[in-house]
Amino acid sequence: MEVVIVESPERAGRLVADAVGELIARKPDAVLGVATGSSPEAVYRELANRVQAGELSLKDARAFMLDEYVGLLPEHPQRYRAVIDRQLVEPTDIQAENVHGPDGTACDLPKACADYEQAMRDAGGVDLQILGVGSDGHVAFNEPGSSLASRTRLKTLTRQTRQDNARFFGDDLEAVPKHCLTQGVGTLMEARHLVLLAFGQAKAEAVHHMVEGPVSAMWPATALQFHPHTTVILDESAASRL
Ligand code: GLP
Repeated sequence: MEVVIVESPERAGRLVADAVGELIARKPDAVLGVATGSSPEAVYRELANRVQAGELSLKDARAFMLDEYVGLLPEHPQRYRAVIDRQLVEPTDIQAENVHGPDGTACDLPKACADYEQAMRDAGGVDLQILGVGSDGHVAFNEPGSSLASRTRLKTLTRQTRQDNARFFGDDLEAVPKHCLTQGVGTLMEARHLVLLAFGQAKAEAVHHMVEGPVSAMWPATALQFHPHTTVILDESAASRL
Protein backbone atom coordinates (compact mmCIF):
# COMPACT_ATOMS: atom_id res chain seq x y z
CA MET A 1 0.00 0.00 0.00
CA GLU A 2 1.54 3.27 -1.14
CA VAL A 3 0.50 6.28 0.97
CA VAL A 4 0.87 9.74 -0.54
CA ILE A 5 0.19 12.87 1.51
CA VAL A 6 -0.71 15.97 -0.48
CA GLU A 7 -1.51 19.54 0.47
CA SER A 8 -4.97 19.68 -1.10
CA PRO A 9 -7.69 17.71 -2.89
CA GLU A 10 -6.77 19.66 -6.05
CA ARG A 11 -3.24 18.27 -5.92
CA ALA A 12 -4.70 14.78 -5.44
CA GLY A 13 -6.94 15.42 -8.44
CA ARG A 14 -3.92 16.18 -10.61
CA LEU A 15 -2.09 13.03 -9.44
CA VAL A 16 -5.05 10.78 -10.21
CA ALA A 17 -5.65 12.52 -13.55
CA ASP A 18 -1.98 11.81 -14.39
CA ALA A 19 -2.53 8.11 -13.61
CA VAL A 20 -5.70 8.06 -15.73
CA GLY A 21 -3.83 9.82 -18.55
CA GLU A 22 -1.02 7.24 -18.50
CA LEU A 23 -3.53 4.40 -18.49
CA ILE A 24 -5.54 5.84 -21.40
CA ALA A 25 -2.33 6.44 -23.39
CA ARG A 26 -1.58 2.71 -23.35
CA LYS A 27 -5.19 1.49 -23.34
CA PRO A 28 -7.66 4.00 -24.83
CA ASP A 29 -10.65 1.79 -23.94
CA ALA A 30 -9.52 1.32 -20.34
CA VAL A 31 -12.12 0.55 -17.70
CA LEU A 32 -12.35 3.10 -14.91
CA GLY A 33 -14.06 2.42 -11.61
CA VAL A 34 -15.82 5.57 -10.46
CA ALA A 35 -16.89 6.51 -6.94
CA THR A 36 -19.30 9.21 -5.84
CA GLY A 37 -19.14 11.42 -2.76
CA SER A 38 -17.01 14.51 -2.12
CA SER A 39 -13.62 12.80 -2.17
CA PRO A 40 -13.28 12.20 -5.95
CA GLU A 41 -14.81 15.52 -7.03
CA ALA A 42 -11.43 17.19 -7.65
CA VAL A 43 -10.39 14.21 -9.78
CA TYR A 44 -13.43 14.62 -12.03
CA ARG A 45 -12.87 18.39 -12.25
CA GLU A 46 -9.27 17.82 -13.34
CA LEU A 47 -10.25 15.15 -15.88
CA ALA A 48 -12.84 17.57 -17.28
CA ASN A 49 -10.23 20.36 -17.50
CA ARG A 50 -7.82 18.12 -19.37
CA VAL A 51 -10.46 16.83 -21.78
CA GLN A 52 -11.69 20.37 -22.47
CA ALA A 53 -8.08 21.51 -23.04
CA GLY A 54 -7.58 18.67 -25.55
CA GLU A 55 -4.91 17.01 -23.38
CA LEU A 56 -6.91 13.84 -22.71
CA SER A 57 -9.72 11.94 -24.37
CA LEU A 58 -12.03 9.48 -22.66
CA LYS A 59 -14.09 8.87 -25.81
CA ASP A 60 -13.26 5.14 -25.85
CA ALA A 61 -13.01 4.69 -22.09
CA ARG A 62 -15.53 2.69 -20.13
CA ALA A 63 -16.61 3.19 -16.52
CA PHE A 64 -18.35 1.20 -13.81
CA MET A 65 -19.82 2.82 -10.74
CA LEU A 66 -19.32 1.39 -7.25
CA ASP A 67 -22.81 1.70 -5.86
CA GLU A 68 -26.27 3.20 -6.21
CA TYR A 69 -29.15 4.13 -3.92
CA VAL A 70 -32.33 2.06 -3.97
CA GLY A 71 -35.68 3.81 -3.65
CA LEU A 72 -34.99 7.09 -5.45
CA LEU A 73 -37.08 7.97 -8.50
CA PRO A 74 -35.16 7.73 -11.79
CA GLU A 75 -35.17 11.54 -12.14
CA HIS A 76 -33.86 12.18 -8.56
CA PRO A 77 -30.77 14.44 -8.77
CA GLN A 78 -28.97 12.53 -5.99
CA ARG A 79 -29.09 9.16 -7.72
CA TYR A 80 -25.44 8.27 -8.06
CA ARG A 81 -25.89 7.85 -11.80
CA ALA A 82 -27.18 11.44 -11.98
CA VAL A 83 -24.16 12.62 -9.96
CA ILE A 84 -21.71 10.81 -12.26
CA ASP A 85 -23.53 12.21 -15.29
CA ARG A 86 -23.06 15.77 -13.95
CA GLN A 87 -19.48 15.34 -12.74
CA LEU A 88 -17.98 13.08 -15.41
CA VAL A 89 -20.22 12.35 -18.40
CA GLU A 90 -21.37 15.91 -19.21
CA PRO A 91 -18.01 17.71 -18.78
CA THR A 92 -15.85 15.07 -20.54
CA ASP A 93 -16.10 13.11 -23.79
CA ILE A 94 -16.77 9.74 -22.13
CA GLN A 95 -19.81 8.22 -23.83
CA ALA A 96 -22.91 7.90 -21.62
CA GLU A 97 -23.57 4.38 -22.94
CA ASN A 98 -20.10 3.32 -21.78
CA VAL A 99 -20.83 4.30 -18.17
CA HIS A 100 -22.55 1.65 -16.10
CA GLY A 101 -24.00 1.43 -12.62
CA PRO A 102 -26.02 -1.06 -10.63
CA ASP A 103 -29.72 -0.52 -11.40
CA GLY A 104 -31.27 0.63 -8.12
CA THR A 105 -34.67 1.01 -9.82
CA ALA A 106 -34.90 -2.63 -10.99
CA CYS A 107 -37.86 -4.76 -9.83
CA ASP A 108 -35.58 -7.77 -9.44
CA LEU A 109 -32.65 -6.36 -7.46
CA PRO A 110 -30.70 -9.65 -7.03
CA LYS A 111 -30.83 -10.09 -10.82
CA ALA A 112 -29.66 -6.49 -11.31
CA CYS A 113 -26.66 -7.28 -9.08
CA ALA A 114 -25.80 -10.50 -10.93
CA ASP A 115 -26.17 -8.71 -14.30
CA TYR A 116 -23.85 -5.97 -13.10
CA GLU A 117 -21.15 -8.43 -12.04
CA GLN A 118 -21.45 -10.11 -15.46
CA ALA A 119 -21.15 -6.78 -17.28
CA MET A 120 -17.95 -6.01 -15.35
CA ARG A 121 -16.53 -9.43 -16.25
CA ASP A 122 -17.52 -9.00 -19.91
CA ALA A 123 -15.65 -5.67 -19.94
CA GLY A 124 -12.51 -7.44 -18.72
CA GLY A 125 -12.57 -6.00 -15.21
CA VAL A 126 -11.65 -2.57 -13.86
CA ASP A 127 -8.20 -1.17 -14.65
CA LEU A 128 -8.19 1.75 -12.21
CA GLN A 129 -10.69 2.05 -9.38
CA ILE A 130 -11.20 5.43 -7.72
CA LEU A 131 -12.38 5.00 -4.12
CA GLY A 132 -13.39 7.04 -1.12
CA VAL A 133 -13.79 5.78 2.41
CA GLY A 134 -16.61 6.39 4.87
CA SER A 135 -15.93 7.80 8.32
CA ASP A 136 -16.86 4.33 9.65
CA GLY A 137 -14.42 2.62 7.28
CA HIS A 138 -16.93 1.62 4.61
CA VAL A 139 -15.79 1.28 1.01
CA ALA A 140 -18.43 1.69 -1.68
CA PHE A 141 -21.44 0.94 0.57
CA ASN A 142 -19.87 -2.04 2.32
CA GLU A 143 -20.73 -1.08 5.85
CA PRO A 144 -18.95 -2.44 8.95
CA GLY A 145 -19.62 -6.17 9.23
CA SER A 146 -19.65 -6.72 5.44
CA SER A 147 -17.93 -9.88 4.31
CA LEU A 148 -14.53 -9.10 2.87
CA ALA A 149 -15.35 -11.62 0.10
CA SER A 150 -18.75 -10.03 -0.70
CA ARG A 151 -20.08 -9.46 -4.22
CA THR A 152 -22.53 -6.90 -5.63
CA ARG A 153 -25.68 -7.04 -3.52
CA LEU A 154 -28.47 -5.19 -1.74
CA LYS A 155 -27.38 -3.58 1.53
CA THR A 156 -28.98 -1.53 4.30
CA LEU A 157 -27.24 1.76 5.03
CA THR A 158 -26.16 2.49 8.58
CA ARG A 159 -27.52 5.51 10.41
CA GLN A 160 -23.96 6.93 10.45
CA THR A 161 -23.67 6.80 6.66
CA ARG A 162 -27.15 8.24 6.19
CA GLN A 163 -26.22 11.10 8.54
CA ASP A 164 -22.94 11.64 6.67
CA ASN A 165 -24.84 11.80 3.37
CA ALA A 166 -27.79 13.89 4.61
CA ARG A 167 -25.97 17.01 3.39
CA PHE A 168 -26.80 15.92 -0.16
CA PHE A 169 -30.50 15.70 0.79
CA GLY A 170 -31.01 19.15 2.33
CA ASP A 171 -29.85 17.87 5.75
CA ASP A 172 -33.06 15.81 5.93
CA LEU A 173 -32.11 12.38 7.30
CA GLU A 174 -35.51 10.96 6.38
CA ALA A 175 -34.92 11.85 2.73
CA VAL A 176 -31.75 9.71 2.59
CA PRO A 177 -32.50 6.23 1.22
CA LYS A 178 -32.17 3.30 3.59
CA HIS A 179 -30.98 0.78 1.00
CA CYS A 180 -28.47 0.56 -1.80
CA LEU A 181 -26.85 -1.75 -4.28
CA THR A 182 -23.10 -1.92 -3.90
CA GLN A 183 -20.17 -3.76 -5.36
CA GLY A 184 -18.87 -6.12 -2.71
CA VAL A 185 -15.46 -5.83 -1.13
CA GLY A 186 -14.49 -8.94 -3.13
CA THR A 187 -15.74 -7.29 -6.32
CA LEU A 188 -13.87 -4.02 -5.97
CA MET A 189 -10.69 -5.82 -4.84
CA GLU A 190 -10.51 -7.35 -8.35
CA ALA A 191 -9.67 -3.98 -9.90
CA ARG A 192 -6.08 -3.95 -11.06
CA HIS A 193 -5.17 -0.64 -9.37
CA LEU A 194 -7.03 0.90 -6.42
CA VAL A 195 -6.68 4.63 -5.77
CA LEU A 196 -8.32 5.69 -2.52
CA LEU A 197 -8.77 9.36 -1.64
CA ALA A 198 -9.51 10.72 1.85
CA PHE A 199 -9.49 14.30 3.08
CA GLY A 200 -10.27 15.92 6.43
CA GLN A 201 -10.18 15.05 10.10
CA ALA A 202 -13.43 13.06 9.94
CA LYS A 203 -11.59 10.38 7.95
CA ALA A 204 -8.54 10.13 10.23
CA GLU A 205 -9.77 7.20 12.30
CA ALA A 206 -10.90 5.19 9.26
CA VAL A 207 -7.56 5.89 7.55
CA HIS A 208 -5.68 4.79 10.67
CA HIS A 209 -7.51 1.44 10.69
CA MET A 210 -7.25 1.02 6.91
CA VAL A 211 -3.49 1.54 6.78
CA GLU A 212 -2.26 0.34 10.17
CA GLY A 213 -5.05 -1.64 11.80
CA PRO A 214 -5.66 -5.38 11.83
CA VAL A 215 -7.74 -6.56 8.88
CA SER A 216 -11.34 -6.80 10.04
CA ALA A 217 -14.81 -6.83 8.52
CA MET A 218 -15.64 -4.16 11.13
CA TRP A 219 -13.42 -1.77 9.12
CA PRO A 220 -14.06 -2.97 5.54
CA ALA A 221 -11.39 -0.66 4.07
CA THR A 222 -8.73 -2.75 5.86
CA ALA A 223 -9.22 -5.36 3.07
CA LEU A 224 -7.16 -3.04 0.85
CA GLN A 225 -4.07 -4.18 2.79
CA PHE A 226 -4.31 -7.43 0.77
CA HIS A 227 -4.38 -5.66 -2.60
CA PRO A 228 -1.10 -5.78 -4.53
CA HIS A 229 -1.47 -2.30 -6.07
CA THR A 230 -3.17 0.27 -3.87
CA THR A 231 -2.41 3.99 -3.74
CA VAL A 232 -3.88 5.96 -0.82
CA ILE A 233 -3.90 9.74 -1.29
CA LEU A 234 -4.53 11.79 1.85
CA ASP A 235 -4.33 15.33 3.09
CA GLU A 236 -2.55 16.12 6.38
CA SER A 237 -5.79 15.93 8.40
CA ALA A 238 -6.82 12.53 7.08
CA ALA A 239 -3.26 11.31 7.73
CA SER A 240 -3.11 12.78 11.25
CA ARG A 241 -3.51 9.44 13.05
CA LEU A 242 -0.87 7.57 11.08
C1 GLP B 1 -20.40 7.31 0.41
C2 GLP B 1 -20.19 6.45 -0.86
C3 GLP B 1 -18.78 5.98 -0.96
C4 GLP B 1 -17.90 7.13 -0.59
C5 GLP B 1 -17.99 7.40 0.88
C6 GLP B 1 -17.28 8.67 1.33
O1 GLP B 1 -21.46 6.97 1.17
N1 GLP B 1 -21.07 5.36 -1.06
O2 GLP B 1 -18.52 5.47 -2.27
O3 GLP B 1 -16.56 6.83 -0.90
O4 GLP B 1 -19.32 7.33 1.32
O5 GLP B 1 -17.95 9.80 0.89
P1 GLP B 1 -17.28 11.24 0.85
O6 GLP B 1 -16.22 11.17 -0.18
O7 GLP B 1 -18.38 12.18 0.46
O8 GLP B 1 -16.75 11.50 2.21
